[in-house]
This record gives sequence, structure tokens and C-alpha cells, in this order.
Amino acid sequence: MSMQKRTIVAMPGDGIGKVVLEETIRVLNRAGFEAEYVEGDIGWEFWRKEGNPLPQRTLNLLSKHKIGLFGAITSKPKDAATAELDPSLAGKGLVYSSPIVGLRQHFNLDICIRPCRTYKGNPLNFIRRGAGDVIEEPEIDVAIFRQNTEGLYGGVEWSNPPEIVYRGLASHPKFQKNFGNVAVEDLSISTRIFTRAATERILRAAFTYANKHNYASVTVCEKPNVIRETSGMMYKMAQEIQAADFPNIELWNTNIDAQMMWLTKNPENYGVIVAGNMFGDIVSDGFAGLIGGLGFACSANLGEEVAVFEPTHGSAPKYADYPVSIVNPIAMIESACMMLDHIGEGEFALRIREAIATVIKEGKVRTYDMMKMSGRPEVIERGAASTRDMADAIIAKL
Ligand code: NAI
Ligand code: MG
Repeated sequence: MSMQKRTIVAMPGDGIGKVVLEETIRVLNRAGFEAEYVEGDIGWEFWRKEGNPLPQRTLNLLSKHKIGLFGAITSKPKDAATAELDPSLAGKGLVYSSPIVGLRQHFNLDICIRPCRTYKGNPLNFIRRGAGDVIEEPEIDVAIFRQNTEGLYGGVEWSNPPEIVYRGLASHPKFQKNFGNVAVEDLSISTRIFTRAATERILRAAFTYANKHNYASVTVCEKPNVIRETSGMMYKMAQEIQAADFPNIELWNTNIDAQMMWLTKNPENYGVIVAGNMFGDIVSDGFAGLIGGLGFACSANLGEEVAVFEPTHGSAPKYADYPVSIVNPIAMIESACMMLDHIGEGEFALRIREAIATVIKEGKVRTYDMMKMSGRPEVIERGAASTRDMADAIIAKL
């Protein structure tokens, strides 16, 4: 066990982000993981008061301490955001943009890992009909590697594109053929840019993880038969990397659309899955649905220097003001376990995961989502565990 106390930047953000992070830190403390937490300001409150949802002081904290735990933020469309600015900031031309996307871009957190593992006894587990009408509950153990900074979410897009862009596009024969007679003001264009460097980083991260954790296969989930340049480059590079450095790991190639169909047919067959930004987002939500949904979906955003760990759910604003918080803290707690693995404190992660597994298997303490209730304050009277009850139950098993 390391003796030096770590400092972790805790960024609760908005809505339920605050409560799930607070409960998670309680679990970390009670597991015996020794750290100091400094609070990083992020989210709606800072947009309204300061015109910046991601203040420089928060970036400075992360530059200094390198490791962050993030709850969730609330995002609203541009115009709605502007309308909520403090009157003293109105008319200054401030434009809202999502601080978590900003954070990923600022620190180039280009590798996103979203593991999806079945907990035995979770009533939300995916089940299917097998041969002879038996009901099967496949055990899923998948890690999705999503390129986090480029592709369709790279932000290079236009409506009514400028002349120079239009001319560049018009030089492509397919553009001429399919869009050549469309007026420029009737065009909206979002680009899908992949770079060799970032593609190599996400692929190598996926293979290295598969190797370390004994997964038999890495699946590139793209669409290279149609999106020939970007998906095609990723698959070709995967073939080269596999042949050169990971011959012991099988390389599979699936198309995103077919993968979504196979999701419910044979999810247990997959190990590590790697994809570009948007397809990684889609396929990871798909798998998360099979293991319990948003209350269970955790993630890591890794850069070369900084790493931020977060549940994939948002701030669920309608639940934020309930007198007793009802949301499931497991996604956030699991994200903290990924942090522990990342910083070489995996023994704490193991203990916490075992405690979660025991609570789920016993089935005595379940949040509303696990009881298939709709999320209203009354769920507590109807026997659902609160956010705090669930954290307490996990702590009791440590
Ligand atoms: P959401 O993830 O906040 O909530 C969707 C629904 O999922 C909730 O109404 C609730 O039924 C359920 N849910 C979410 N977390 C849960 C948990 N821990 N336990 C049990 N049930 C849970 O997504 P929504 O409603 O689309 O967005 C709300 C706000 O969050 C928006 O402002 C959006 O922009 C933001 N958002 C932020 C993200 C982030 O911070 N990374 C990610 C997704 C959305
Ligand atoms: Mg998503």
C-alpha cells in the first residue's frame, strides 16, 4: 500500500452529480483508500454566475493533481443558456458549451473506456430465450474503447458552408454527383475526421487492455465497407497492430448496425470493442442497457497526463431536488473503482466491487431502477433504497 496521500479533484457538477459523488467519496474513505479531495467548480452554476461552466481554476487543479472524479453536468441549448446568464454578463457575447466536452478536449482525454459487466442477481440483467425455450441470462464482460476527441463529435461542421469549403467539397466527384445541384444555403455538413495518431492510441490502448485482462478478442466496430476512409483506416491499422504486436489476440471486425443486432443475440461473445467517437458512444450505451442501464454505466477518460472518471449518466435534474435522493450511486462508485485501478490502487477497487456484487446478489437493498419503478419520491415508501442506503449497504460489506 502506498504511503503518500493522493489528492483527487472532485468535480460534483450539477443535479444528481453532487449526491452520487458525495456517496462515492464516503465509500472510498470507508474502504480505507486514503486521499485528499479538492473541489473543482464545474457546471451550470458557474455558467450563470461567471459565464464559464469550466473555470480556469478547475483546469489548474487538474493540471496540478492529474486525477479527477466527475459527477455530471446540466447542459442546455445555446439560447436557453444565454437566457439564464446573470444580468451583469448579458450582451457580452458569451456562448455556452458543455464543460465535460471542454474538459476532454482541453486535456486531450482521447481514450474513453466503458466496461460493461454483469452482476449476478441484478434484476435488470438482460435475459433471452434459448434453445428449447429455456431462459438464458448471458454473462457479459465487455470493455468498450471509444475514441473520445475526434470523428463526428470533433465539432468541425457548417450550415451554409463558406465558399472555400464549398469549393473543396465540389472537387469530389461524389459530391458533384449527389449534391452538385443543391444550393449552398441548403447544405449542412458535419465532418468525420480521424487522425492516424489518435486512431493508433485508441487501438493500442484496446489491445493492451485485452492483453492485460486476458480477453480473447478485440472487435473493431465501425463500418469500413461504406465509410471507407475513416472506418477503413481504423480497421487497417488494427490489422497491422494486431499482426505486429498482439498475435495472441483475435481481431474481429463488425459493422455498427449489425453489432446492435448481435447485442441481444450473443453479447457474451465479445471482449474488448474499439470504435470511433460516435459509434463508441452508441455501442457502449447498447451494452450498458444489458447490464442495468445508466445506474451501472461507468467510464474513464484518459489522456497522457490527466485522467477523469465519471458515470455516463447525466445530472437527471428532475430527481435532483427530491427530499431524499433516489438515484443509484453504483455507476459513480464503479467509475471511482476504475480510478483506483488506474492509479495502482486496484486492491481497493477489488474490495469495493466485491462489496457491490454481494449487495446485488443478496438483493435486499435495491434502488428504484433495480425495482423497475418509475423514479418518483414515493419509491422510498414503496421499499426502494435511497442513494445513501445503497452506499451504506456497500460500506457494510467492505
Ligand atoms: P440523464 O442521464 O441525466 O437522465 C436520464 C434518466 O436516466 C433519468 O431521468 C433517470 O430516469 C435515469 N438515471 C440517470 N442516472 C441515474 C442513476 N444514477 N440512477 C438511476 N437512474 C438514473 O440524461 P438526460 O435526462 O438526458 O439529461 C439530463 C441533463 O444531463 C441534461 O442537461 C444533459 O445535457 C445532461 N447530461 C450530462 C452528461 C454528463 O455530465 N456527462 C451526460 C448526459 C446528459
Ligand atoms: Mg452517450
